[in-house]
Amino acid sequence: MSDNKIYQASTTAPVNIAVVKYWGKRDAKLNLPTNSSVSVTLSQSDLRTHTTAACSAAFGPEDTLLLNSSPQDVSGARTQACFRELRALRSALESADPSLPKLSSLPLRIVSENNFPTAAGLASSAAGFAALVRAIANLYELPSSPTDLSRIARQGSGSACRSLFGGYVAWQMGSKEDGSDSVAVEVAPASHWPTMRALILVVSAEKKGVSSTSGMQITVATSELFQRRAEVVVPAHMKAMEKAILEKDFETFAKVTMMESNSFHATCLDTFPPIFYLNDVSRAAIRVVEDINKKAGKTIAAYTFDAGPNAVIYYEEENADAVAGTLKSALGELDGWQGREIKAQSTEGVDARAVQVLKDGVSRVILTSVGEGPIRTEESLITATGEPL
Ligand code: DP6
Repeated sequence: MSDNKIYQASTTAPVNIAVVKYWGKRDAKLNLPTNSSVSVTLSQSDLRTHTTAACSAAFGPEDTLLLNSSPQDVSGARTQACFRELRALRSALESADPSLPKLSSLPLRIVSENNFPTAAGLASSAAGFAALVRAIANLYELPSSPTDLSRIARQGSGSACRSLFGGYVAWQMGSKEDGSDSVAVEVAPASHWPTMRALILVVSAEKKGVSSTSGMQITVATSELFQRRAEVVVPAHMKAMEKAILEKDFETFAKVTMMESNSFHATCLDTFPPIFYLNDVSRAAIRVVEDINKKAGKTIAAYTFDAGPNAVIYYEEENADAVAGTLKSALGELDGWQGREIKAQSTEGVDARAVQVLKDGVSRVILTSVGEGPIRTEESLITATGEPL
């Protein structure tokens, strides 16, 4: 009789928001970037993907993936690359130790859940692929380090490689053709600079914009500004950012974060036809952050935007009232402020029109902070008989 035992392991993985942006591939198949990048990993109490990876001869014959209860297509090259690489590592362990169960040849059943609304338009692919790779690595009992696994997660989604670590993370672009040195490394753990906070303004977008995967391809093909960004701008920003993080120098961290976001969106505008990720609400958020900084007489807040209109505002805990408190009075009652000790501050000195545009356009806020990397959990998303919960 065949062994129908169900093997399983679970993990949670975080979202990360880049402060030096990844935008552009030098190899689309291996998902190799045209420049290095840096991100801050956000706390999993607020944003995380929880994933259980299971395998059994009782499953299949196909590998399956369920996300928030809906079946996902796993036949795409990116998911297949992750499955293939992880199976190869397991298979090598099995060859070296024949007493190990032959998990590499069993069908996989992956069950995933996000603790944040998918409709919020938050990039969830980073947490999703990081959780998928980490969960399967746990299931296969691979001795691989987070950097080893980042090389695999990168092939699922570039930004996912940075979600294998907590704290402050760099994705080194690497130079090898096979991509083996295009991996994530820790710049500093969350405990090095634990006072970093992030406020996400979720902007109600009317329609889905250009996906980052296709957007960056068109930028590489058409923007001349992009060349300069990859060759000159980003290398300088990488150096300044890593130094700012190591020295906990918020003013420099903030300046580079904002200039990076602006540089990335400038190459989007320079793409032909142009790509617009920022909208009026995003621009109002920029104005409000500028006014908050002006009022403080120093840089206490930094905005950044990815491939959509949502604003992420970084600040330090000691300025929570001055930054988040001002936005609290500007935005009024919204989902996300409840249970947080943020004292509303006067919006005096902040452009009134920008405040109105923000009030009309922001649908909810997420208050979070720098956080840890993937965390192994015994909490499973499947039953003992292998059924998704
Ligand atoms: C603007 O990682 O989503 O968020 O590798 O094609 O999956 P793929 O792209 P993805 O791009 C993220 C782009 C960004 C900047 C960043 O996170 O560095």
